[in-house]
Amino acid sequence: MILSGKAKLAGVMGWPVSHSRSPRLHGYWLEQSGIDGAYLPLAVPPERIAEAIRALPALGFRGANVTVPHKEAALRAVDRVDPVARRIGAVNTIVVGEDGSLEGRNTDAYGFLANLRDGAPEWRPEAGPALVLGAGGAARAVVAALVDAGVPEIRLFNRTAAKAEALAADIGGPIRIVDTSDVAGTALLVNTTSLGMAGQPPLDLDLTGLPPAAIVTDIVYTPLITPLLALAQARGNPIVDGLGMLLHQAVPGFEAWFGHRPVVTPALRTFVLG
Ligand code: ATR
Repeated sequence: MILSGKAKLAGVMGWPVSHSRSPRLHGYWLEQSGIDGAYLPLAVPPERIAEAIRALPALGFRGANVTVPHKEAALRAVDRVDPVARRIGAVNTIVVGEDGSLEGRNTDAYGFLANLRDGAPEWRPEAGPALVLGAGGAARAVVAALVDAGVPEIRLFNRTAAKAEALAADIGGPIRIVDTSDVAGTALLVNTTSLGMAGQPPLDLDLTGLPPAAIVTDIVYTPLITPLLALAQARGNPIVDGLGMLLHQAVPGFEAWFGHRPVVTPALRTFVLG
């Protein structure tokens, strides 16, 4: 990568940031499109996140992503928050305006839906209820996406019921908090918990009553085929892995900073996994 003095700059702020695949992902697109720009890993500790975000215009950055544990703090550090990010309660993408002001956006809901539509083109929001497992930060984006897509009923199950109730109150829409993870009658099943991730216990879920056409998706992508996805696949249910959510959520940020809308391709998936 050879940069000129006019190179467009962006990056990802996280703590730690070393595990982030975003530099690889954006670096691939920059290289492919021949853009004079760079996307850097920025290790920012929590006590300095507001300072680091506020420094973006002074450094000439076009913007940045923010990841764990900074997504809520970023909401407070920017000048404007777009309605989606406000509703979800987290910012993952910051865009520096021409006037140096900071706009906070959330592209996770977009990324979830784009990945679902890409991986399961047959999915129709109105096909029936969705069952969402978990009520953390990722679940907020997933539920907002499903509400906005027009899913008639979203069943929300979480170990800690109070978090599910807070999510439903904040996001609004046809959300029903359920106290079992019963899969009967669901058209779409989404795992947003960390269960099934490498190093975590598997998600213990009985898929017996799951309709054969129900789509099963997991936001965990390490491993790519989680125990849940393997089980669903063995029953013949269509599955969508979670890597695409990471890839698709990056598209709007890249476009805003570098002025070119990138595409998610099989080659990109392979590269990011490598
Ligand atoms: P993220 O931003 O990835 O969503 P998070 O906000 O920490 O991460 O949320 C993690 C989710 O996984 C939560 O829904 C959490 O359940 P609680 O709200 O009860 O904590 C869920 N989770 C994590 N470990 C779990 C476990 N061992 N059993 C059940 N749920 C678990």
